[in-house]
Amino acid sequence: MINTLKSYKELSSTVADIVEYQIQEQPLSKLIFPTGSTPLGMYKELVSRELDWSDVITFNLDEYLMNPDHPYSYHSFMRKNLFDRINIYPDHYHFPYRPTLSFEDTMYANKGIDLCILGIGSNGHIAFNEPGSSFKSKTRVVDLSEQTIQDNSKYFDSIDDVPKQAITMGLGTIMESKKIILMANGNHKLNILNVAMNGEVTEDVPASILQNHNNVEVYYCD
Ligand code: PGA
Repeated sequence: MINTLKSYKELSSTVADIVEYQIQEQPLSKLIFPTGSTPLGMYKELVSRELDWSDVITFNLDEYLMNPDHPYSYHSFMRKNLFDRINIYPDHYHFPYRPTLSFEDTMYANKGIDLCILGIGSNGHIAFNEPGSSFKSKTRVVDLSEQTIQDNSKYFDSIDDVPKQAITMGLGTIMESKKIILMANGNHKLNILNVAMNGEVTEDVPASILQNHNNVEVYYCD
């Protein structure tokens, strides 16, 4: 179930191929996108391919509870690495917002999500669904775990600057996607990836819920 690729470059281009195919086959696609270090190469690839994004609608998995214009917000990350560099309409990309129920309504206003790209945290989280999150969870405000605050402190000036809360899509929300791709980069992710994909399906390992989805592909490189 875990596809091991030779390099980060191959990981990035393989997942970019899947996104490109989706957009070409169905210009009106609805996609879910992640942030973090793992997808950076994929976004770079997508920018270089000059695809037509004019009908594409996207939703990001999560956002810190902070000013969206802050340079370390996920809004800023996505604008810098993808949205400001492609021909997507600004009102076609979305981030989770409050009230979270209206965000869920916006997501499902059309016909559901065609393709969801995910990363995995070192504690097995997907989006900001930390261990113990309900498999039925929907978009909501969550407290970040100590592990996640520690992991994400590399993006901030100091650990004290990392927001302690975020808005995340739920595991139930993510599982409604028609197709899911999980990307993992680096040897430090291999153990949790194996536990999630081959171990017990349990809320203690949020990514293990993916074993219950019938259209998931997992790509890893060390
Ligand atoms: P990373 O984060 O890509 O920066 O490792 C992944 C995640 O926490 O989902």
